[in-house]
Amino acid sequence: APVAIPRENVLDNTLTLLREGYHYIPGRRRHFKSDIFQTRLLGQKVICIGGKEAAEVFYDEDKFTRIGAIPNRMKESLFGKNGVHVLEGNAHSHRKTMFMSLMTSERLSELTALTEKQWEVAIADWQQKRRVILFPEAEKIMCRIACEWAGVPLWANELSQRTRDLSAMIDAFGAIGPRHWQGRIARNRSERWIRRIIAQVRSGELKPREETALYTFAWHRDLQDRLLDLQTAAVELLNIVRPIVAVGRFVTFGALAINDFPETKEKLRVGDDDYIRMFVQEVRRYYPFGPFLGAKVRSNFKWTGHQFKKGTLVLLDIYGTNHDPDLWDKPDEFRPERFDEWEGSPFDFIPQGGGYDMGHRCPGEWITIDIMKVSLAFLANRIDYNVPKQNLDYSMVRMPSIPKSRFIMRDVAISS
Ligand code: HEM
Repeated sequence: APVAIPRENVLDNTLTLLREGYHYIPGRRRHFKSDIFQTRLLGQKVICIGGKEAAEVFYDEDKFTRIGAIPNRMKESLFGKNGVHVLEGNAHSHRKTMFMSLMTSERLSELTALTEKQWEVAIADWQQKRRVILFPEAEKIMCRIACEWAGVPLWANELSQRTRDLSAMIDAFGAIGPRHWQGRIARNRSERWIRRIIAQVRSGELKPREETALYTFAWHRDLQDRLLDLQTAAVELLNIVRPIVAVGRFVTFGALAINDFPETKEKLRVGDDDYIRMFVQEVRRYYPFGPFLGAKVRSNFKWTGHQFKKGTLVLLDIYGTNHDPDLWDKPDEFRPERFDEWEGSPFDFIPQGGGYDMGHRCPGEWITIDIMKVSLAFLANRIDYNVPKQNLDYSMVRMPSIPKSRFIMRDVAISS
């Protein structure tokens, strides 16, 4: 007989989830002393799982499907409709190959060079200002990098609006009310913008370089040898541009780490490549970004003696797995050196999802790491600045989180 799953006896726990945010699943796992528990969210039965073995089963495509697992409200704001996130089987592999084809070492080196250039451009401007708010500035820098790398033309006078829209889509993911609506408006406007650009490529008005995402997606053919419809091509191109802007959040958290753990700044200053890599990994592990992921049970199976029934929504605890005391020594300490010993499992360190490239794992992980390395080395080594008194707390309830003051810097100057 199947072993009973520890369960919360409640009518619905959606409000509790919204009240507890990133701590909701890990808190219950601790309470039940179990990597699995059952609850009710948005009117349905949900099984929550966390930890390395949980991630391993969650990424078993025979057991789980993504179809029907993303709430509509998140498609309307964060993801868009009919993108790679919700494809399956051959259609998914074919589309995923399109994304992975962009991640060559040449294109990644180009990205690194571009990132360096855009920080230099920004610092020239910052030196003229007494005060700079890092988070919105980092997002603008990321927007420039994203568009240039993807081959998307971006005029100086549209930079602020485009950045605000890309940022609003990300900011909407855990929101109800106005933040959600801003995300939807931002998505509609951004899709219109990108549809027009793809149409211009197809009509020959715009000629992006062949190795760019714009060219690749505009001319990509599906398994039936048809071009993507404009709308889907726009959704996918935004699946490159938007998450690069999201790297601005990790950059801001990285600046916070440099500020809060000054010993790391000394080590970053030595300019050791290995240390910067470990520092970037620790920022991605330590700070809250993606809270959890959802998938539906494809067909009945048993895991650790517990019965999973076809159609049940299952949430994998991302934040809690990255802070799991069974996997990480003193998980709530910021200690980049832990990555010296880390063995590199695809299932225990999952800030951008787990498993392998050709599953649903984030194809942008190398991009994220490369941009963060350049950006955080720049903040630690290339410039000096003061961090005035401000509220640098970040909420563990608001999803996505960000330091309340957005990291204010004063008197930025080139390092002597
Ligand atoms: C998927 C997080 C940056 C493109 C994902 C997933 C997560 C994630 C949690 C879901 C994995 C799953 O469903 O199993 C992040 C975070 C980022 C980031 C926290 C840092 C800010 C990027 C970048 C790109 C990107 C820079 C640009 C290429 C995608 C795409 C998917 C995805 C296209 C869907 C993959 C699929 O379903 O096969 N990301 N990501 N992400 N990410 Fe990222």
